[in-house]
Amino acid sequence: MKYLLGIDVGTSGTKSVLFDIYGNEVSSKTVSYPLYEEQNGWAEQDPLHWWNAVVTGVRAVLSKAGQNCEIAGVGLSGQMHGLVMLSKDGVPLRKSIIWCDQRTAAQCEEINSKVGEKRVIEITANPPMTGFTASKILWVMENEPHIYSQCKSILLPKDYIRYMLTGELATEVSDASGMQLMDIKNRTWSDEVLKKLSIDKSLLAAMYESEEQTGTVSKTAAELTGIKEGTPVAGGAGDNAAAAIGTGVIKEGSAFTTIGSSAVVYAVSDEPLINALGKVHTLCASVKNKWTVMSCTQGAGISLRWLRNTCFEKEAYEAEKQGTDTYALMDKMAEKVPIGAEKLIYLPYLMGERSPHPDPYCKGVFFGLSNTHSKAHLVRAVLEGVAFSQKECVDVFREMGVDVSDMTVCGGGGRSPLWRQMLSDLYGCPVKTLKADEGGALGVAILAGVCSKEYSSLQEACDLIVKKNEPLMPDKEAGKLYEPYFELYKKLYKSLKDDFRTLYNI
Ligand code: XUL
Repeated sequence: MKYLLGIDVGTSGTKSVLFDIYGNEVSSKTVSYPLYEEQNGWAEQDPLHWWNAVVTGVRAVLSKAGQNCEIAGVGLSGQMHGLVMLSKDGVPLRKSIIWCDQRTAAQCEEINSKVGEKRVIEITANPPMTGFTASKILWVMENEPHIYSQCKSILLPKDYIRYMLTGELATEVSDASGMQLMDIKNRTWSDEVLKKLSIDKSLLAAMYESEEQTGTVSKTAAELTGIKEGTPVAGGAGDNAAAAIGTGVIKEGSAFTTIGSSAVVYAVSDEPLINALGKVHTLCASVKNKWTVMSCTQGAGISLRWLRNTCFEKEAYEAEKQGTDTYALMDKMAEKVPIGAEKLIYLPYLMGERSPHPDPYCKGVFFGLSNTHSKAHLVRAVLEGVAFSQKECVDVFREMGVDVSDMTVCGGGGRSPLWRQMLSDLYGCPVKTLKADEGGALGVAILAGVCSKEYSSLQEACDLIVKKNEPLMPDKEAGKLYEPYFELYKKLYKSLKDDFRTLYNI
């Protein structure tokens, strides 16, 4: 039997998973690493931590699977937008400035003035975003010229892992479109944008489609990881585009919501559909000739993790003793609190926001906090706040005419029955879940299988592998109860928008 290896370079850790050809997990290992937040609004990680996590994870996975397992292909998935800068010797010159970093508001304005507000959207399909890579490149160019002058290659997180595995400097369309340097319609680097931003094209990696082969595992990487030298490595995909394959969302008319560190609503389209206000993103899909409309709530799982780390230390200790998960415990507590958390509303802007408010200045808010509220209310409010943000994004999709009624919910947050039901009640449509939610790792393992001809097409692979449970139905009564809170939630951002800016400037 042949196997496929999927590696997903996430924000909290890297997950390596070995699958058989039917998509069953054979073994899996997640290795975590720190997030560095040296200043309010900054977020960095060390690319070498990612690589070490891959080496440790893959070794563990392969040793569990045994000596004779033949890997037909490797697929790479990862957090999008992160900036990795390499020296001429292929060594990272600084920590990676990652997707949720918000330091580049000035550089976004600069992109508008250099490329032209209208033109940047015409070419890259999105207005300048602090989350995207182009503004991060300009920030280093301007603030760390000594580093920029030594930079010989610019890569995305999973593409750095590809470089370490194969020696190739390569990327693929789904992740590269989040750099804001691509001509999204034509799925190539944009010479015009690069020229106007004075970024040398030779710094960028070779561009592939997600299912194409980008190289093979080198001798050195084979010795380190245990993967056989010469094993093909497919293009892979940004984590959300990878999850799209793993959830079978590969055609127009289907969509998914994933809640991980960020939360994303993702739908496929046959043409690039653009929201000129940047409320949602337009990117190339990990499927040839398809595009995607995608939202990103920056502080989704991050909000819940923050709450756990700040207020639930005792419960985390108890959960560990009982062999349960603190999040499951928090979920149980929140279940007992009524809809609206007894008049407590949370705005999930811990890391600024992108969708539907591209705003690096906004911050998290508990609104309505009173002496009667307990920790359980805080949990309920956080879950609801993140769910409100998804509903706000889904409303933008609907305004754009994107059909999101065939909705699947996945990701770590999707494991919470309470969170899933909230989404269904707020969206007002059934939501499906996966029989086996393997996240981005399965999606890119499937791409690796298509690349190494284990499957004749993506469609065939998804039909064989992706299985869904009976959908969860929306509760109309609950939907009604959420309405006044959701309306106030939306109003709060508008009311506080300028105050967030004032706070930033103090
Ligand atoms: C998407 C985004 C996040 C990261 C998280 O635009 O920034 O979903 O990919 O891993």
